Amino acid sequence: MKRIAILTGAGVSAESGIKTFRDSGGLWENYPVEEVASIEGWHRNPGLMLEFYNERRRQLAGSKPNEAHRTIAGLEAKYKVDVITQNVDNLHERAGSTHVLHLHGELTKVRPENCYNDRDGFSEESVFDIGYEPIHLGDKAPNGAQLRPHIVWFGEPVPNIEKAIDIVAAADILVIVGTSLQVYPAAGLYRYAGFDTPIYIIDPKPALLNDGRITSIAMKATDGMRKLATML
Ligand code: APR
Repeated sequence: MKRIAILTGAGVSAESGIKTFRDSGGLWENYPVEEVASIEGWHRNPGLMLEFYNERRRQLAGSKPNEAHRTIAGLEAKYKVDVITQNVDNLHERAGSTHVLHLHGELTKVRPENCYNDRDGFSEESVFDIGYEPIHLGDKAPNGAQLRPHIVWFGEPVPNIEKAIDIVAAADILVIVGTSLQVYPAAGLYRYAGFDTPIYIIDPKPALLNDGRITSIAMKATDGMRKLATML
């Protein structure tokens, strides 16, 4: 079976009603990133950050996968599909994708705030799923530490990037859906694709990259994935 790596960003969930970050009306228009999505913000005002993620978890509870998520999951009938997502929502999994690697964490998961260090990372057993429930200041993990969202904040390392690089390097086809490709290291992943690996970018405003392997499909995710599925 041929291997497809699919790198997704906020645009793949836009048609599920989940805001992107940098489009007009995007999340970062209303919230200063450093206040709600950085490790410095956590040390400065953890209560504000907990509420920011509680609100996004509440919104996710009312959101559903869209046809783009389902088309991506459907490719598993013909290909070995690995989804590498920058999104923290669970819509790929709920649409049926069985191999989803989250680069920036997962909204429905939490962990003790003291279980990570640069040398060892964090132990997976310290991460647990709370579904769509809120967490508040004073909510402690079994080890007595404050619970925090299992999200990669600005200023923190991206533990899954090595796995993502291996997936892209081994892929026969790379598809990039709904990302502005502005945040590294995720934005640099496409460079690890083989020199003759076809790369498809699906986005109403596809990032302009000077790379002969790339075919841009200037469409929204649902239409673009439907078109690509017929082309593959
Ligand atoms: N279908 C496909 N793409 C869309 C759609 C749609 N319906 N609507 C918008 N887009 C595209 C935009 O044109 C843009 O290129 O989705 C992209 C969204 O870009 P960003 O808002 O920058 O989101 P993303 O690229 O996922 O951001 C990366 O930045 O803030 C951090 O951690 C956060 O994971 C996030 C990372």
